[in-house]
Amino acid sequence: MSSSDLKKALKATATEVTRVLDDLLPMGEGPESRVTEAMRYTALAGGKRIRPFLVVACADLFSVDRKSSMRAAAAIEMVHCYSLIHDDLPAMDNDDLRRGKPTCHIKFDEATAILAGDALLTKSFEVLADEKTHGDARVRCDLVSALALASGEAGMVGGQMIDLFAEDHKLKMPEITRLQRMKTGALIAVACEAGAILGKASENAHHVLHAYAHDVGLAFQIADDLLDVEGDEKKVGKKTGKDADAGKATFVSLLGVVRAREQAELLADQAASHLDIFEEKGKLLRELAHYVVNRSA
Ligand code: IPE
Ligand code: IPE
Ligand code: MG
Ligand code: MG
Ligand code: MG
Repeated sequence: MSSSDLKKALKATATEVTRVLDDLLPMGEGPESRVTEAMRYTALAGGKRIRPFLVVACADLFSVDRKSSMRAAAAIEMVHCYSLIHDDLPAMDNDDLRRGKPTCHIKFDEATAILAGDALLTKSFEVLADEKTHGDARVRCDLVSALALASGEAGMVGGQMIDLFAEDHKLKMPEITRLQRMKTGALIAVACEAGAILGKASENAHHVLHAYAHDVGLAFQIADDLLDVEGDEKKVGKKTGKDADAGKATFVSLLGVVRAREQAELLADQAASHLDIFEEKGKLLRELAHYVVNRSA
């Protein structure tokens, strides 16, 4: 297996999950269709689809039915897309470029962007709770609980709150680590956990995937912060050089570029090593841990 296998797998998942999202978000009629249009604008507009890939790759370890893993993947991507729409709002990061296109509130308006985010969040739970996602109600319930926990104040939303707090308060390393784990790590972790839940994985396998996701999530955000400093705006599809101006607390602001990169690479190695129990089957996920750190977008 080579890195081109990973690229192919990432591309295949991205295409497939975009199709599933397209099906799950049909254009309606009437004046409310403006919000659907805004949801579709962001949800179908590209993106690396890393979280969907993690759901599917983890579910594949337990030979989960593709339809189930794809629906769970689409649900988690909806929450991610909602988080991006709200993150870009003037009240938060005030960004006008996302995935190479105008952000949702620029394309539509702020109120529509807020509603589109709200509706994507809610829709994700509708999808998970649907029998089509899994025949076992216990599995569906566990998926809903896990995603709720990862998205709310103990996870992504809480992390976003600390991110804003940190613009006026100096954080130390352990606090920045906690911020990053919450705002980004939590959704990455639930993507892996969803695969394990769908696969009715053993306690040990759950534990291993959690440890993997924990490291990948942190490495992913460090790489995002490095791209803000070193990335090519055209490739990353969003404005760069903004974190320092906004006074964001990142590993890069604390450690500098070189040590932050070292830290991310260390985390990727550690993430990959957690997967030894899966032997050959864990290869793509191991590669993904390194891809996350070395990506240019
Ligand atoms: C960007 O996430 C926001 C963060 C949590 C750092 P991604 O880098 O996964 O964004 P897309 O989905 O590929 O656009
Ligand atoms: C956002 O982190 C994390 C989210 C929960 C959306 P950033 O603010 O660094 O993400 P980008 O750089 O705008 O994608
Ligand atoms: Mg932000
Ligand atoms: Mg942002
Ligand atoms: Mg960023």
